[in-house]
Amino acid sequence: MTLSDQNQRPLRDLRMSVTDRCNFRCRYCMPPEIFGPDYPFLQQDQLLDFDEMFRLARIFAGVGVRKIRITGGEPLLRPNLHQLIGRLVGIEGIEDIAMTTNGVLLAKQAEQLKAAGLRRVTVSLDSLDDERFGYMNGRGVGVQTVLEGIAAAERAGLQVKINMVVQRGINEQDIIPMASHFRETNHILRFIEYMDVGNTNGWKMDKVVSKQEILHMINEVMPLESIPGNYSGEVATRFLYKGTTKEIGIISSVTDAFCSTCTRARLSAEGHLYTCLFATKGHDLRAHLRAGVSDQAIEDMIKGVWGLRMDRYSEERHEIMQRNIKRNSKIEMSYIGG
Ligand code: GTP
Ligand code: 5AD
Ligand code: SF4
Ligand code: SF4
Repeated sequence: MTLSDQNQRPLRDLRMSVTDRCNFRCRYCMPPEIFGPDYPFLQQDQLLDFDEMFRLARIFAGVGVRKIRITGGEPLLRPNLHQLIGRLVGIEGIEDIAMTTNGVLLAKQAEQLKAAGLRRVTVSLDSLDDERFGYMNGRGVGVQTVLEGIAAAERAGLQVKINMVVQRGINEQDIIPMASHFRETNHILRFIEYMDVGNTNGWKMDKVVSKQEILHMINEVMPLESIPGNYSGEVATRFLYKGTTKEIGIISSVTDAFCSTCTRARLSAEGHLYTCLFATKGHDLRAHLRAGVSDQAIEDMIKGVWGLRMDRYSEERHEIMQRNIKRNSKIEMSYIGG
């Protein structure tokens, strides 16, 4: 029997964060003023080790998970990540393993990751302009470093997608250059509407460049046609450049939410399970792992949590804001991954 939540959504995807640290300080995710030298990042003994992650992933696969995405913070900061990937690919039922990264360490690690069995990576890149990109990543890192990471991933045989978060007044002018650049490559570019993740990024609705606006801008210079989704629950709406087989996507969690088909669970690097990117509370699976409980007991816990799941934050956002409904603090994006 398929495990379903309160809105008849099955559990299909597991997004596993392997670290809450990052070598970037993107202002929409980890504003440098907040994530400074004194920020209380997780300590080594709080992190799940690879045995614990493998064990949980196997249990999740047993209740229906088919796809795993490795996230961070920046996942490539976790030492020996390829060893974890190598173990996850062997789990029965897991059909797809992907990773989201900022690309800085990809040039060094792409070969190793591919050899371990990773199939695809999604690289975040918000601008092709060094000055704007350096400002946005909060560390002054140049575009070339990320482009080299992307090239290394391609050479290694990894499929690569590119994610660009669009913020009004910050990088709208990069939409067309990014589209033109990646249209000439084998990589699908996806634009992401700026979201109110976490509690510290100073999000305001008027900073969101909507899916419709992005579409309009691109259509003016490179006409698009819409195409159907690859699978139910896909977060991106897909388009082709007319008359070509080149694809782009838009992830519109703010203006056109996709909660009704959301099949994603998220596991933090310390082993807390969350049923939404905007969750305020997690479930501490690590405590149970370390208390020595059986696989069956952990499976029952996961089933219990998923069975009660009602999350649909992006569909409720407007009402929560309009009615000024008080919620507890959300988890930070860097803690739970994208
Ligand atoms: P594939 O289709 O498997 O390539 O992956 P994906 O579309 O899940 O891609 P990815 O993990 O790169 O997600 C892209 C971005 O979409 C994330 O970085 C988030 O910003 C956003 N996103 C992904 N999942 C969710 C979700 O469940 N809710 C919301 N609100 N945003 C999401
Ligand atoms: N809004 C939209 N996307 C975000 N990401 C991080 N913070 C935000 C935000 N506030 C995206 C990054 C990356 C992934 C980890 O999440 O661009 O692709
Ligand atoms: Fe790091 Fe990704 Fe967050 Fe940027 S968006 S600070 S690269 S985790
Ligand atoms: Fe899923 Fe929550 Fe995102 Fe909606 S807001 S799509 S429920 S993670």
